[in-house]
Amino acid sequence: MRKMSCSWAFLLLVSPILLASHGLSEPESSIIAPMEEAEQEALYLVLQDLVGKWWNGSELYPDPCGWTQIQGVSCDLFDGLWYVTSLNIGPVFDNSLRCSQQARFNPLLFQLKHLRSLSFFNCFSRHQQMIIPSSNWKKLSGSLKTLEFRSNRGLVGGIPDDIVQLSELESLVIVENSMDGELPTELGKLERLKRLMLSGNHFVGRIPNSICVSSTELLIMDLSRNLLTGPLPPCLRNLTSLLKLDLSDNRFDGSLPPELGRLENLTLLDLRNNNFSGGLARSLNGMASIQDLLLAHNPNLGGSLEETEWGNLRELTTLDFSHAGLTGAIPEAMAALKKLRYVALDGNGLTGSVSPEFASLPCLGALYLNGNDLTGRLEFPREFYQRLGKRFAPWGNPNLCYDIAETAEIIPYGVAQCKQDHQELFSYAARARTEIWMTILCSWALFGLWLCFF
Ligand SMILES: *[C@@H]1O[C@H](CO)[C@@H](O)[C@H](O)[C@H]1NC(C)=O
Ligand SMILES: *[C@@H]1O[C@H](CO)[C@@H](O)[C@H](O)[C@H]1NC(C)=O
Ligand SMILES: *[C@@H]1O[C@H](CO)[C@@H](O)[C@H](O)[C@H]1NC(C)=O
Ligand SMILES: *[C@@H]1O[C@H](CO)[C@@H](O)[C@H](O)[C@H]1NC(C)=O
Repeated sequence: MRKMSCSWAFLLLVSPILLASHGLSEPESSIIAPMEEAEQEALYLVLQDLVGKWWNGSELYPDPCGWTQIQGVSCDLFDGLWYVTSLNIGPVFDNSLRCSQQARFNPLLFQLKHLRSLSFFNCFSRHQQMIIPSSNWKKLSGSLKTLEFRSNRGLVGGIPDDIVQLSELESLVIVENSMDGELPTELGKLERLKRLMLSGNHFVGRIPNSICVSSTELLIMDLSRNLLTGPLPPCLRNLTSLLKLDLSDNRFDGSLPPELGRLENLTLLDLRNNNFSGGLARSLNGMASIQDLLLAHNPNLGGSLEETEWGNLRELTTLDFSHAGLTGAIPEAMAALKKLRYVALDGNGLTGSVSPEFASLPCLGALYLNGNDLTGRLEFPREFYQRLGKRFAPWGNPNLCYDIAETAEIIPYGVAQCKQDHQELFSYAARARTEIWMTILCSWALFGLWLCFF
């Protein structure tokens, strides 16, 4: 009886596994929907040229859209046949296809006519140089929405002009490769583009004007860490849906177009490490959604913070204007932006006093004011110095001082005590010294008296 229940239990345990494996071994989907032979053959050859000659697709994956799916390959049904819709090459998962050192593009790639997404991650290594195919992209123009090349250090050369034929493209990501040359002049032909990320290459030249003509659906534009030059085209204001604009670490110059302020949905503007000049003008006033405003390390920017109507920028959390050649005072209105977390104004020529209102910002975690010409008294409560520690940086302002009464034993680093306090302290110390001497003298006198009596 006991034995019986045991084997029942065993069966109960094992039967779902048996059922499951049975289900797997039946290639139902491929019976219902086959794959077009030419499509299947193209897929195998494209992958083999990337992965290496040893990789025999037809042997390893006889039904690539059915019961022997390949990691990184997705398919969809069109008129009862399977087609490849997505091809992602590179070490994302343990079982992802990885490129060999001889990886190359097979032109049959352009036969995959329903391809919606194509991405190469960490595929073309330093050991070999590869360029993006210069033609045939039109063949994918009806389908391709996403094209990505990330971290391919062996990928060199320019962005082929032909890429602008991809009229359905929504995301073009060419990040951390070794590509160079100018951006295609007709980039603006990509009317559906929502994301343009070209950071971390060696691209040169200007932002093509065409970008503003039609790419009005653009949400993210990241051209950071390249060698791009020239002024920003004023027509950037046409990109009204833009959420993020990152042009940091380039060689842009000229003044900031005042029209930038029309980007009312912009949440991030990063122009750090360029050579902009001509001040802030009124470029920032309309950026009602801006959260991260980063203009640091533009030593020739100049101008004054007082030109901006800070009251309009209520969402601001991060403000990095260090080493931007700014002069004038720190506007009081800045200290009323309640969401501020990080403020860096160091390394400028700012003058005037520091508003004590900064202490009332609930989220403020860093305030860098070092290396300016600020004057007057720091009138922050001691909790403020305690909370920020070294992330409050007032040093390098020779005419700035703090009140001893306010801070007690917590002293802001690198700032002198205000003069008046200093004198008071001095006289206090002198008084203390006199009192000590008096006490000593009195004790001697008492001791003398005691000696007289005995
Ligand atoms: C892959 O394997 C099949 C069956 O074993 C064989 O017929 C075919 O020639 C092989 N293809 C390549 C490219 O090695
Ligand atoms: C801005 O977009 C409009 C269409 O919305 C277009 O007519 C105009 O030429 C564009 N301006 C620039 C400078 O590209
Ligand atoms: C800005 O964002 C709002 C809310 O998401 C949206 O309704 C509006 O259309 C956007 N403006 C532009 C110019 O895209
Ligand atoms: C930066 O721009 C100024 C003009 O504003 C120019 O004189 C200077 O040479 C530029 N610096 C670099 C490194 O390009």
